[in-house]
Amino acid sequence: MKQHLTHPVFSIISKIAGENNLQAYAIGGFVRDIFLKRPSKDIDIVVLGNGIDFAEKVAQKLKVKVAVFKNFGTAQLKYKDLEIEFVGARKESYRRDSRKPIVEDGTLEDDQKRRDFTINALAISLHPDTYGELLDPFGGMDDMEHKLIRTPLNPVETFSDDPLRMMRAIRFASQLNFRIDDVAVQAIKNNVDRISIVSQERITDELNKIILSPKPSIGFNYLFDTGLLHKIFPQMTALYGVEFINGKGHKDNFYHTLQVLDNICETTDDLWLRWAAILHDIAKPATKRFEAGHGWTFHGHEDKGARMVPKIFAQLKLPLNEKMKQVQKLVLLHLRPIVLSQSIVTDSAVRRLLFEAGDDIDGLMLLCKADITTKNEYKIKKYRQNFELVQQKLKDVEERDSIRNWQPPVTGNDIMQLFGLNEGREVGIIKNQIREAILEGEITNSREEALAYTIQKGEEIGLKVVAKL
Ligand code: CTP
Repeated sequence: MKQHLTHPVFSIISKIAGENNLQAYAIGGFVRDIFLKRPSKDIDIVVLGNGIDFAEKVAQKLKVKVAVFKNFGTAQLKYKDLEIEFVGARKESYRRDSRKPIVEDGTLEDDQKRRDFTINALAISLHPDTYGELLDPFGGMDDMEHKLIRTPLNPVETFSDDPLRMMRAIRFASQLNFRIDDVAVQAIKNNVDRISIVSQERITDELNKIILSPKPSIGFNYLFDTGLLHKIFPQMTALYGVEFINGKGHKDNFYHTLQVLDNICETTDDLWLRWAAILHDIAKPATKRFEAGHGWTFHGHEDKGARMVPKIFAQLKLPLNEKMKQVQKLVLLHLRPIVLSQSIVTDSAVRRLLFEAGDDIDGLMLLCKADITTKNEYKIKKYRQNFELVQQKLKDVEERDSIRNWQPPVTGNDIMQLFGLNEGREVGIIKNQIREAILEGEITNSREEALAYTIQKGEEIGLKVVAKL
């Protein structure tokens, strides 16, 4: 193991452990990540003794400050690019953000067995006599090899120590593409109600980590199959299932949504685009109708879906800021590019889409591409070709007309000056007419043409030009 402890800080910790005759270990996520080849800058050190005293000695040697959290028995210091936390081995469950005071004076094994998963309970000795020795009493290395998330104790006990660990199990499975041990899955199923004692912020934090994992459907399938998703995000589980009338069914919108989510993850790491994929069809259950002679329809689901976004964001304690607005816009517009690609595309339709999407046009195109989940090769090919056409058209129109971040070439102030008007209805009417004329392609997006058009429209409603602009 020694070869993994290359950072000079480890030899300093080791020296202090030797001088003070104390056992100290690197433990938890840092050790796990060595084996997963995910370099980590956060190091947890467990000391068999007083963690704070030990941290102070290390800090003195490194000539850095130490932040002491007396109530929790922990101390933190920063050294170069590393953040190191010290704690005494404890008998009680480990949780970094726990508000409960720590019961110290456990053995190393006491400490390890109260951690969440075997792969997070690995420790490496730092004492000079045993420097680099791996301590793995619960088979974490075996589980790592078999890609298995397993709890050191009976999972019922591990999860009851901190029910968020049910989400953490699923999050690690999704991030690492690991399987969760059957006994642990069953324990989650039996204890889903306990998630209600966990704060929404911690739940959403884990949910976002699942969404940011390479293939989030792994996590969402676990969330759904265990029943956790029904508790934390019921609007999404409402997408599940297929209904048949007169032998006609519709697609299962839950699995469709997961496919769209996985698809978009191949083209973007942006959390909010990924959220847009999750929410794009969220109003399908609420708008579902069976129309005789026609089949299943979901008219207006994009509009209703966009209106559902703020409530879902509030419920999940996601930020109610411009990110929410972006997701809302993408949900609202998600059908537009595909509609464009199905008919003959007029320039004005493209200009309108650019005007409404603004800077979100690229994200919108990624979402629409991800939304093609048909298995029919012929259809895929046709959609892709149409898509290319729309994309080309978007590019051409944007180059020519610069609609993406459109600012009116004639402002309300201009109109007031030109005709000697105060603020009022006429100004708004003329402003709208200018915008419409530009979007429809009657005039170009230039000040000259827009001014001439303004004068013409003003005179049509009896206004007189009183100033030159
Ligand atoms: N831990 C735990 N139970 C929790 C949270 C954390 O047992 N509910 C333990 C695990 O041993 C974990 C360590 O505390 O490895 C550090 O926790 P944390 O920093 O939250 O997670 P990491 O495992 O480091 O993973 P990540 O950085 O990806 O969150």
